[in-house]
Amino acid sequence: MSHVAEQVHLSRSEVCGILREELYSEEILHQADTHIFIVVGASGDLAKKKIYPTLWWLFNDGLLPEHTFIIGYARSNLTVESLRKQTQPYMKVTAEDQKKLDAFFSLTSYVSGQYDERSSFEKLHAHMNSLPKGKKANRLFYLALPPSVYEDVTRNIKETCMSQVGWNRLIVEKPFGKDLESSNKLSNHISALFREDQIYRIDHYLGKEMVQNLMVLRFGNRIFGPIWNRDHIGCVVLTFKEPFGTEGRGGYFDEFGIIRDVMQNHLLQMLCLVAMEKPTSTNSDDVRDEKVKVLKSISEIQLSDVVLGQYVGNPQGQGEEKKGYLDDATVPAGSLTSTFAAAVLYVQNERWDSVPFILRCGKALNERKAEVRLQFRDVPGDIFNQQCKRNELVIRVQPNEAVYTKMMTKKPGMFFNPEESELDLTYGNRYKDVKLPDAYERLILDVFCGSQMHFVRSDELREAWRIFTPLLHRIESEKIKPIPYIYGSRGPAEADELMKRVGFRYEGTYKWVNPNKL
Ligand code: NDP
Ligand code: BG6
Repeated sequence: MSHVAEQVHLSRSEVCGILREELYSEEILHQADTHIFIVVGASGDLAKKKIYPTLWWLFNDGLLPEHTFIIGYARSNLTVESLRKQTQPYMKVTAEDQKKLDAFFSLTSYVSGQYDERSSFEKLHAHMNSLPKGKKANRLFYLALPPSVYEDVTRNIKETCMSQVGWNRLIVEKPFGKDLESSNKLSNHISALFREDQIYRIDHYLGKEMVQNLMVLRFGNRIFGPIWNRDHIGCVVLTFKEPFGTEGRGGYFDEFGIIRDVMQNHLLQMLCLVAMEKPTSTNSDDVRDEKVKVLKSISEIQLSDVVLGQYVGNPQGQGEEKKGYLDDATVPAGSLTSTFAAAVLYVQNERWDSVPFILRCGKALNERKAEVRLQFRDVPGDIFNQQCKRNELVIRVQPNEAVYTKMMTKKPGMFFNPEESELDLTYGNRYKDVKLPDAYERLILDVFCGSQMHFVRSDELREAWRIFTPLLHRIESEKIKPIPYIYGSRGPAEADELMKRVGFRYEGTYKWVNPNKL
């Protein structure tokens, strides 16, 4: 995709044309000319809000391989029409798109069946075979399902639905288990049925523009390499914040909590990309080998290095903000599940020894934000009477993607004192006409193309659970009570204290002025 980024003056369809040529090698376009994408759990929320809309965007941009059929599979008694009705509101369709949308839905079909019944999957297989060139087609199975049915579904797919001519790939959604033991059980089950190169474990943060940019920033620039270590970096903060609560999704959330929902996967994956050594190449396994080494260098998290929180309603707030987590009708009364967590962990290797990596995530906070913040150490031998603030390099994943470096500069004019300023690469200013694809668009394309770089390998998963499982078990067995924080706040003050204790310095003096608004 290298030169596509340079084509900022091209129209969207021209860019898509280039992408299509780059992505779909001879191998993909001509080896087997039909693909079948099977959405297992087609009646569900993820399918409706993400999977069908993503397939439509890819189709609309000409990025799905030609002759791709889409089959929905679930227990509900649906039709293509009813599926269309429930998914279309999420598809961002313009009036001009209507004809194309009809063409898209003409490629879709729906099969209703049970998850634990071999005969239902035989029916699905027969349907696939009945499609034009269906027997020879490559097959992608997307498991948009609760993990409780993964075992039945994967066994039935393997036993009845595999293409004998084309390839077969399986896309698995998180959560991959609830702890080390359940995750290992699931992994052992799936890996007894499918080879690792057929399994695509999605962590959609790996499909985000700025998360993918971490490797280019680090390994494509000379300026960062020499300072990317414990000698220069004081601490690293990885943040995920959402300004809304569970809002009816409490049933799922309460079983998992924020550590399993966000920290153990999205934040830990970003940490790996910040901390890993340079891989020998950009091949999937070279990259994943380095990520696994990072995880192996991290000890189990200690409860003393963790702050847990649960939001309560804000009496001064509006609408949903008035409701606390326990007021959500889908949350069990008296639940101790955390909706906020901050944790400090250490990567015990030569590059990072004693540098705190602070992971913070929460729901019902003051803003939507995901970012990576590297705070550098103080300048040694100060000659400016302590006026200099620490440098920070911030990679903002969302919203408003940006990379900025907070730095000191001479106050302009007849002054000689230092002032805080920044080097600012805000995407909205620099890449005005570029539409950044959704994470799912990239990741689904990767599966068509057979690239596993942005997917989680089984050993990564095992290490991630090893780090978090003892903590999770302790929180649950000792019934640790989360600290209440108000809906719309920054979370419990104890999290700021934890960050301060391990060395993060917050000055509160920096002001950014958007040049577009000057
Ligand atoms: P600051 O150094 O002022 O803030 C750093 C972060 O510290 C804050 O975002 C806040 O994050 C956190 N914080 C606030 N209070 C405390 C506290 N008491 N203890 C510990 N941490 C605290 O500046 P930023 O570098 O974040 O930039 C300020 C603003 O300017 C931001 O809105 C940023 O997005 C914007 N900006 C945008 C740029 C761009 O678009 N290119 C360029 C530069 C800046 P949290 O609440 O998450 O803890
Ligand atoms: C999901 C979590 O993995 O990520 C959700 O299960 C969370 O709880 C979501 O809301 C956030 O994704 P994004 O892309 O909106 O930051």
